Amino acid sequence: MNINDMIQESKIMTGPFPDFDKRSYENPLLHFKEWFKDAINSEVKEPTSVVVSTYDKERITDSRVMIIKAMDDQGFFIETNKEQAKVDQIAYNQHVAINIYWREQGRQIRIQGIADSTANFDHVEDYLDAKTRDLMVYKIIPSRVEFYQAKNQGGYERLLYTLNEDKWQNTHL
Ligand SMILES: Cc1cc2nc3c(=O)[nH]c(=O)nc-3n(C[C@H](O)[C@H](O)[C@H](O)COP(=O)(O)O)c2cc1C
Repeated sequence: MNINDMIQESKIMTGPFPDFDKRSYENPLLHFKEWFKDAINSEVKEPTSVVVSTYDKERITDSRVMIIKAMDDQGFFIETNKEQAKVDQIAYNQHVAINIYWREQGRQIRIQGIADSTANFDHVEDYLDAKTRDLMVYKIIPSRVEFYQAKNQGGYERLLYTLNEDKWQNTHL
């Protein structure tokens, strides 16, 4: 079989999917918590493995899988070795994007925000390898988050949270 036949025959979005949660929350971190609990209950594989995108000095974008190690009411914590490309990239440009795809549920979460390397992480230190190793810890503080749900009958629904003057607003797209 030729490669393009193989690509064409690869199954996508097989379902069955949960219904889109019509509730909107005060902020996307609360919404994330609910979806994360659902992901655990639905036995999503590796729900903490996420794609983190950055941007370098030559304006070339980059991305890689990282693990979300913890969260609090303002953001998500990730960590990395210090001598790495992403550390230079984030030093150059704090804006990052995170993409999460939970295929078992047909769900995607897209996060845009700032990677803060100076944020306090004492309250989540027990969940970080940085407790025992000299790692770079970033707190990703979101400013825009989109929740995407594929529908069983085809198509999708999206709910977008945006931050306006420190207040979260949301809209169905
Ligand atoms: C499932 C998975 C989880 C990973 N988790 C991390 C992580 O939490 N932190 C990290 O720095 N790299 C992690 N990596 C490795 C990165 O994807 C990447 O290869 C490495 O960090 C170098 O990236 P950079 O050159 O862009 O800095 C993970 C890779 C995979 C496949």
